[in-house]
Amino acid sequence: MIKDRIHIYKDTPALCEGVTHFLQSHIFTRKKSINLCLSGGNTPKALFDHWSNARKNDIPWSRITLFWGDERCVPPDSESSNYGMTQKHLLDKVPVPVENIFRIRGENNPEEEATRYSRLLAEKLPSKNQYPAFDLVLLGMGEDGHTASLFPGQSTQRNNAPNCIVTVHPESGMKRISITENIINNAGTVIFLVTGRNKAPIVEEVIRNREAYAGIYPAARITPRNGIVHWFLDKPAAYLIDKTLAKK
Ligand code: 6PG
Repeated sequence: MIKDRIHIYKDTPALCEGVTHFLQSHIFTRKKSINLCLSGGNTPKALFDHWSNARKNDIPWSRITLFWGDERCVPPDSESSNYGMTQKHLLDKVPVPVENIFRIRGENNPEEEATRYSRLLAEKLPSKNQYPAFDLVLLGMGEDGHTASLFPGQSTQRNNAPNCIVTVHPESGMKRISITENIINNAGTVIFLVTGRNKAPIVEEVIRNREAYAGIYPAARITPRNGIVHWFLDKPAAYLIDKTLAKK
């Protein structure tokens, strides 16, 4: 049984500060070295800008190792690159040691890179339940219920490399490399960071009835072994969920 810990904020700046405060109190102050898995897309840009500007001196960058939950199969300087986006909004502005940054190489052959990154996770991360374990996985969610680059109707597990998988974006046809739901569920803390009224229906469906939608939405299959999913939402993304849930 998954417990949803729902954190609702009036707007994006408040949401970014809420996430940062949570990470400081639940992870940064409790762990000497921290393995963070970042999400891509647009939503994290505001968070990364907040970290780079307002909170640059409050985050223990030297103790953080960065990984990505997914990447588009494009070069890092492509407009579509999640690493490129993170570099622009965060890495160019904060002192994460370069040796602590492990990007997915979108320019590589997808299958080969999925295998390489699978092995890298096994090498760099501590093992828990016989799989690599992140301290934190930060996730976004699409209106179709995808998360990371795990899309509805596509296999989200791969036997010979259980840590990463190659998927295809259903609209653009662009190949993606993604960590698997197994790796996400093995993390110490899992956070969905979701904003915008357009996401409210999928947020409500997944939180309200995860079991019913598990066969459809990869986001509904995010069931961490520690039993908790954290939702950091702005009010527009949260407007369909019962306000009493926010107190759960
Ligand atoms: C990606 C992301 C993806 C993203 C969702 C939400 O590579 O695009 O990892 O899972 O988090 O699609 O995207 P937005 O934040 O742009 O709405």
